[in-house]
Amino acid sequence: MTALFGLFLVIPAVVIASTGADTPFAPGFPSPWASGGSGWDEAYEKAKKFVSSLTLVEKVNLTTGTGWEADRCVGSTGSVPRLGFRAFCLEDGPLGVRYTDHNSAFPAGINVAATFSRDLMRRRGEEMGEEFLGKGIDVQLGPVAGPLGRVPEGGRNWEGFSPDPYLTGVAMAETIKGIQSRGVVACAKHYILNEQEHYRNRIDVRIDDRTMHELYLWPFADAVRAGVGSVMCSYNKINGAFACENEWTTNYLLKNELSFQGFVMSDWGAQHTTLGSALGGLDMAMPGDGGGPPYGALWGGALTEAVLKGQVPQWRLDDMVIRIMAAFYKVKSGNYTSRPDVNFSAWTNKTTGPLHPLSNQSSIGVVNEFVNVQGDHAALIREIGAKSVVLLKNEKAALPLNKPQSMAVIGNDAQDTPGGPNACPERGCIKGTVAMGYGSGTAEFPYLVSPATALELQAATDNTVFTNTTGNWNLAAAKAAASNASAAIVFVTATAGENFITLDGNAGDRNNLTLWDNGDELIRAVASVNPNTIVVLHTAGPVILEYAKQHPNVTAILWAGFPGQESGNALADVLYGRVNPQGRSPFTWGKSVKDYGAQLMFTAPNPALPSQTFDEGVFIDYRYFDKAAIAPTWWFGSGLSYTTFSYARLEIVVHNTTNPYQAAGGLTPPAPTYGTLDRTAGANVVPDGFRKISPYVYPWVSSSANVSGPASVSPTAAINGSAQPVLPAGGAPGGNARLFDVLYTISVSITNTGKVAGTEIPQLYVQLGGEDNPFSVLRGFDEAALEPGQSKTVAFSLTRRDVSNWNTTSQNWEIWDREKFVFVGSSFEAIRLNSTLPPPPASA
Ligand code: NOJ
Repeated sequence: MTALFGLFLVIPAVVIASTGADTPFAPGFPSPWASGGSGWDEAYEKAKKFVSSLTLVEKVNLTTGTGWEADRCVGSTGSVPRLGFRAFCLEDGPLGVRYTDHNSAFPAGINVAATFSRDLMRRRGEEMGEEFLGKGIDVQLGPVAGPLGRVPEGGRNWEGFSPDPYLTGVAMAETIKGIQSRGVVACAKHYILNEQEHYRNRIDVRIDDRTMHELYLWPFADAVRAGVGSVMCSYNKINGAFACENEWTTNYLLKNELSFQGFVMSDWGAQHTTLGSALGGLDMAMPGDGGGPPYGALWGGALTEAVLKGQVPQWRLDDMVIRIMAAFYKVKSGNYTSRPDVNFSAWTNKTTGPLHPLSNQSSIGVVNEFVNVQGDHAALIREIGAKSVVLLKNEKAALPLNKPQSMAVIGNDAQDTPGGPNACPERGCIKGTVAMGYGSGTAEFPYLVSPATALELQAATDNTVFTNTTGNWNLAAAKAAASNASAAIVFVTATAGENFITLDGNAGDRNNLTLWDNGDELIRAVASVNPNTIVVLHTAGPVILEYAKQHPNVTAILWAGFPGQESGNALADVLYGRVNPQGRSPFTWGKSVKDYGAQLMFTAPNPALPSQTFDEGVFIDYRYFDKAAIAPTWWFGSGLSYTTFSYARLEIVVHNTTNPYQAAGGLTPPAPTYGTLDRTAGANVVPDGFRKISPYVYPWVSSSANVSGPASVSPTAAINGSAQPVLPAGGAPGGNARLFDVLYTISVSITNTGKVAGTEIPQLYVQLGGEDNPFSVLRGFDEAALEPGQSKTVAFSLTRRDVSNWNTTSQNWEIWDREKFVFVGSSFEAIRLNSTLPPPPASA
């Protein structure tokens, strides 16, 4: 396996993050302690009881990974053998269980975002959760809201959902609720501003407080409100301090303002110091190894030593373990209280292998039991695959297909992969159709139905003469195949991934927005000879397609994204009209990469200390295109149907019953501690007779360690466990509970005015007013399944947060006194109805 993380830098001092010029508030020390509350009380009580019974080294053992490839999962903590409590198993990733077998490969996050369907988002989470549970995994390392998608080339955008924070926030919440309802802890990652793969291990992102709140933090707030059990801090720095020891982002924003009660784990190797991370709010170090002697780890024995010296107070250690255990107990409810043993190994697909591959002293045992966890999940995978297809162009009644006389399928991207769908390790090469990106966000395919296979089967049923041509660089062959076909379907791709793999010169991030593998030329060649050229895109995000949109012979264009194992079947469902397309583009399609404003930093002026200021503020994707008056090829939210819809009767109800907004306040209780630590040297060194295997990470201090003081190396504020002020925008998971009061209900009536059944995705946009706000921002969406002639009223709820801006001085959300408007339509651009938004209720 490839080592996924870069250099470990040991920086002794605790770094104080600057919060930007306009952010006068104090940095976030001490790290807030969990206190239960909203949905956490029962779990928190169980955690208290468990943690109170642990010794110092047992506590530390649960906070620290045992090392890369030390155990069977991509991340494993230590265990508590005395109480029969096995280690935690953490496993990638956001679209299915990575590095195993008999699992499903679900559609990528960007596809489920394109469905704009809360129901599908939730069900995908549930079924993924079932698969993780079945493999004995405690924590699924997903979903992803960072990257959000600031730049379209971002290598990992497809693992997440959309550059729109509202859509991503809904997708995060639904996915998390789904996963956790099945007894598995979800992990919202990568927190935060991990917007590009280039320089990801050290880039310093400079950001202002308002942009942070209104754009990047927003979906994480939704994740916390949904009860997410864990958050993964990212590789990059924010305003000068690494994310995994950044007391502004972790202590102040996440644990204080958002009142996050679960635990923060490091991305793999994103921890840089022992004390800085512990006091900066990290709760679990992953994968755990990577430090100097004597511990070979920044935590493990080093953390035990720091606690014995008083540099990390007992309450901080206790809080780490309380958070970890509370997350674990929180998800174990209903029908999902069980905890199967880990029954797979991420490191081999053989039945037996080393129990601890990182060590050459490891014993051999059974490591894979090949448990089949797929259930009947193929059906949902196909449904999401079909409902995420975005029909971008459909002219001359090209689609749906109806028993065409002949069909030419053209392009490598339609094909089965020679050697099987997993022939490219972690999808780090392209040999056939692309149905997911590359890197740690992958899972093995149990099978992959290619478009060519699915279409050939359909053609046989319909007596359609079928030809299938591969070889994207042989344009003459492509033209010959296409020239006489009633429909020529060209398949093209542009993939992206994580930067430990460089694919065709793309180090994770895409180098540009053109198609790969000669795709643009292939489209042009086919369209030059066939007047019914249909283009299917399997891409990680937008590509430059204005020429195809304008080309008279390109009759249809469909974006199918990364649909997972049922790719061909799902696509055929749409092409043949069994599913009427309802996907909507979760991003904007520019005519040039420059049109996006914010640019990815491929080459840093100072590569040793790369730094980038997100000075575009909240203006990314459609917000920027509109502000700069740049017409894209297709706007955010676009997507056609085989039917048509009309909109009528926009009505707004103002809810006057709401109580006035109140800033949270008061003090927390002082930091609690659980159990008494035995601080004698003998209690914290390796027990007599225990055989260590090297370089496994252990929690014991070395026998030569000096475990007394000085505590003074830690900032006084960081080790202060006295009662602390609650922040005004805080007080409940996701932020002040009153932010989620519904102030308005907005309804519209939608009618299917066409001849076939179809689903419209009405979208609500709000104009908050003022030059410093985008023209409008997404604040609601729904799905309306309608038979021909049928009408339905859909209602959107607008919360206080939805109509607020972030005040950097008061550190709170406020409804600014500016004239506001609402727009309802079928994309950001295709607005059908609008109205001024009445002032908020007087009582608000
Ligand atoms: C690094 C990636 O950034 C993260 O997403 C993943 O979960 C870990 N590696 C573990 O594989």
